[in-house]
Amino acid sequence: MTGILLVQGDITRQRADAIVNAANSSLLGGGGVDGAIHRGGGPAILAECRALRASRYGRGLPTGQAVATTAGRLDARWVIHTVGPVFSAEEDRSPLLASCYRASLRVADALGARTVAFPAISTGVYRWPMADAARIALAAARSTDTAVEEVRFVLLDALAYEVFARQIG
Ligand code: APR
Repeated sequence: MTGILLVQGDITRQRADAIVNAANSSLLGGGGVDGAIHRGGGPAILAECRALRASRYGRGLPTGQAVATTAGRLDARWVIHTVGPVFSAEEDRSPLLASCYRASLRVADALGARTVAFPAISTGVYRWPMADAARIALAAARSTDTAVEEVRFVLLDALAYEVFARQIG
């Protein structure tokens, strides 16, 4: 049975088997969580991302998919990079957002990770409204069959935490 936990804080300060990165398809870093994870984890993460680009993901990591690298200096064994969809008012991309959580849990299972820390994927630069993103994230975590024992959502600020707390019911 997977437990779902909400935490307010900086995901790069979390201790977990796997920390999930809200990456972009280039896998070569960015701002937000991506920037914080690369800064905190150090160059070993980017080196493995570059190796992935030179091999399996020559055209980048597609939206909704996930791939693991070392966590470098972070207090975790792996970083699982996933690419969220950019919010669109015209097109329902929620299956792609749900896929980020499902695919990350699938990668976590393949690694044998038992605790996984997620950020609120797509709710920053990719502009997904927090409440809807929380609804999708929690539903995906609850409906995915996984050996992961703890799914921890790490929300940077009180507002995001409150929104997730309201959705968790
Ligand atoms: N810890 C936890 N949450 C964080 C942290 C952190 N250190 N930094 C930012 N966040 C929160 C943001 O407040 C937002 O709610 O993570 C959520 C996701 O925001 P982004 O990091 O902007 O990710 P996303 O919206 O998925 O956009 C991805 O942004 O940084 C670039 O390279 C990245 O192109 C990609 C895009």
